[in-house]
Amino acid sequence: MAESRFALDDRLPADYLANALRSDALEGLSTAPRTLPPKWFYDKRGSDLFEQITMLPEYYPARAEQEILTRRASEIAGLTRATTLIELGSGSSRKTRLLLDALTAGGTLQRYAPLDVSSSTLREASEAICRDYPALSVTATVADFTTGLALPDHPGPRLLAFLGSTIGNFDADQRSAFYRALALTLSSDDVLLLGADLVKDPDALVRAYDDLSGVTAEFNKNVLHVLNRGLGSDFDPDAYDHVALWNADEERIEMRLRARTAQTVKIPELELSLDIAQGEDLRTELSCKFRRETLTQELREGGFTVRNWWTDTAGRFALLLAVPN
Ligand code: SAH
Ligand code: AVI
Repeated sequence: MAESRFALDDRLPADYLANALRSDALEGLSTAPRTLPPKWFYDKRGSDLFEQITMLPEYYPARAEQEILTRRASEIAGLTRATTLIELGSGSSRKTRLLLDALTAGGTLQRYAPLDVSSSTLREASEAICRDYPALSVTATVADFTTGLALPDHPGPRLLAFLGSTIGNFDADQRSAFYRALALTLSSDDVLLLGADLVKDPDALVRAYDDLSGVTAEFNKNVLHVLNRGLGSDFDPDAYDHVALWNADEERIEMRLRARTAQTVKIPELELSLDIAQGEDLRTELSCKFRRETLTQELREGGFTVRNWWTDTAGRFALLLAVPN
């Protein structure tokens, strides 16, 4: 590894994950309806399970976004002429390579700056990119993008990618706060590249989140393993059913864990005992789906103007470029 080209900045204080898990569990699990923020899926095992999800026949978003990137990466490189590519929630950075290739071929890119809360996945992915792109500096940041957006201050123009429709894991209020914070952080020559999954036939949506081989169910239940390890709780993952339901009013998939039987769960770290009723749901993720007009409008209200909008040929997923106003 060429050390001078690679840096990993861990911005999470040593006790951050433990403290945040405690407060999220306390806040989310002790009141009805019980909820947890989706970031707790992504320990090493959860990140690996997510990668498996992206390869499932039912999980079209990853392939649809890849199709758009394959077709549009050169155009994106030409339009942005970015010297720095920042990526939020970069995960394996697999699709990102299409952007790195195009921006490198365009002759502008000097630096890739991935940011993710999952440190082992981030390190693995960014070291591999450092190896495979010898002309690039790679500056990786371990951080939680829901608790402030101190983006690395690299020279512009910067392209900020937020792929995979991870934006859909925020509710409308969280999205609004996120756009505003981002618009304040970006300069006038920076550009946002946003991936967004679109509203479609509910059956196809539910299949994407409830695959036949059960990988998404394992991913969903992984949050219980994270809680057990982090807080000493005694959730039995086998005592819950994976549920993916389409909320038509809110136009979102909701992932839930539904208790098969009435049960008492102890969380010693929180000195808490939860009486969970048979059939009660613990909501683990929202995955909001978008329409062009409303997404353009919410971005405008958040401080961005959409300049380009591309979809895959089947019209399932959108990739957009937006500039701060
Ligand atoms: N962008 C990739 C990965 C999407 S999965 C793709 O399109 O395939 C979502 C990613 O966001 C995971 O890598 C997860 O670790 C990261 N993530 C989730 N919540 C986060 C948070 N609050 N802060 C930073 N990263 C987060
Ligand atoms: C990361 N995020 C956009 C995924 C999604 O589709 O909401 C996470 C996921 N959950 C279940 N399958 C995939």
